Amino acid sequence: MAINLNTPRDSFSSRLGVIAAAAGSAIGLGNIWRFPYVAGENGGGAFLLIYIGFIVLIGVPVMLSEFVIGRNTQRNAVGAFRKLAPKSLWPLTGFLGISAAFFILAFYTTVSGWTLEYLYLAISDGFKAQSAESLTQNFELFRTSGLRPLMWQNIFMFLTAFIVYKGIKNGIEKYTKILMPLLLVIIIILGIRSVTLPGAAEGLTFLFKPDFTKITGKVILEALGQSFFSLSIGMGTLITYGSYIGKGENLGKTALSVSAADTLIAILAGVAIFPAVFAFGIAPEAGAGLVFITLPMIFDQMAGGYFFALIFFLLLSIAALTSTISVLEVVTAYLSEELNLGRKKATVIAASSIAVLGVACTMSQGPWAILSVGGYNLFDLLEMVSANIMLPLGGLLIVLFVGWYLTKDAVFAEISNQGKFKAGFKFAYLFIIRFLAPIAIAFVFLNGLGFFSIFGSGN
Ligand code: TRP
Repeated sequence: MAINLNTPRDSFSSRLGVIAAAAGSAIGLGNIWRFPYVAGENGGGAFLLIYIGFIVLIGVPVMLSEFVIGRNTQRNAVGAFRKLAPKSLWPLTGFLGISAAFFILAFYTTVSGWTLEYLYLAISDGFKAQSAESLTQNFELFRTSGLRPLMWQNIFMFLTAFIVYKGIKNGIEKYTKILMPLLLVIIIILGIRSVTLPGAAEGLTFLFKPDFTKITGKVILEALGQSFFSLSIGMGTLITYGSYIGKGENLGKTALSVSAADTLIAILAGVAIFPAVFAFGIAPEAGAGLVFITLPMIFDQMAGGYFFALIFFLLLSIAALTSTISVLEVVTAYLSEELNLGRKKATVIAASSIAVLGVACTMSQGPWAILSVGGYNLFDLLEMVSANIMLPLGGLLIVLFVGWYLTKDAVFAEISNQGKFKAGFKFAYLFIIRFLAPIAIAFVFLNGLGFFSIFGSGN
């Protein structure tokens, strides 16, 4: 047995701690950096509508399924499958998650590094009176410059490892509880400033008015990938966090609150960004630089902009940090429990090996442009493959496992805390994870990859 029986397993200490940590994982660059730019590239309102549909119908049930696996087994993403389905291929789902953690953390720490640079710029008043063109140009120069983004990325990885090293209660839980609510307040203030800019209405129309002609197989797959990415599902992060959740918590309610908070922040980020995009004449499909260009423009236009820029980038960095720790925790928990390494050693090995891929990812933005395939550099590839392929695939396997491999009674017992409350949603949940979610994920997946177009339909 690879489990150390001498020390009790670490866990979250309170209900608020559970929600803050899981919401801390979910809410991050995915909401504020990725959501607006992916929505911008995929048509705005129609994308938002499909995205919300996926969150409700597939995202919440997948999240609950991860919690079920994690809390039931009290194990890491691989160990959990080993315990429930020994001598089967199911643990491979856990390994898929470990690989996804490498991919995600590599590009995610690149962007997290950008947020540190922008925090630094905010402190040194570096956005003052710049045009959209010069902000765009400066972002491009910085992004492709190699050494500087690399430095920030490694600082960020170090911070992530530091918290994970400290464990659950005194690391992850402690930091997330205070910081997430503060982020919400700032985004609301930014949203208000953005919608009161002259010409803001066009941005709100873009975000909220669906144009159904924009929907293609690729748009639908992007919406699915984004919903999984934003909720942190499909790769065992929430199996791992679920394994630290106490037996008295209501898993269904937790999944619902976390998903609601995550969606709210994404929409608010859209409200803060799109009106400004149109007001300042930036293209909504500007790509990965979108927030780093639009938000500084807003700050420059508002009273107290210096102060708001500063706390915004501080909080964005923190939101990113509460997400990166949740990804690193997947690999750390695996190494420490399955290979019996001890948390500290496991953290160091996980962080440093992921950092190697991270360096390649940051360098692929410019200096190592040869690291690209078909017009996509390594960064784009890792982002696309993890969000649009690995997470949906992982999510599919997770719902199939809980829906068909585990017994109905075991699943109902877990979501009702052994029958302590009714869990009236349980039949709907079972129907979704057995039929609706697997069929929908498989269809969207194949359609988005252009599979059905060989039959003459599809995109
Ligand atoms: N959800 C986080 C965000 O939106 C990123 C993240 C954390 C994540 N853990 C994950 C994404 C696990 C996918 C899988 O920023």
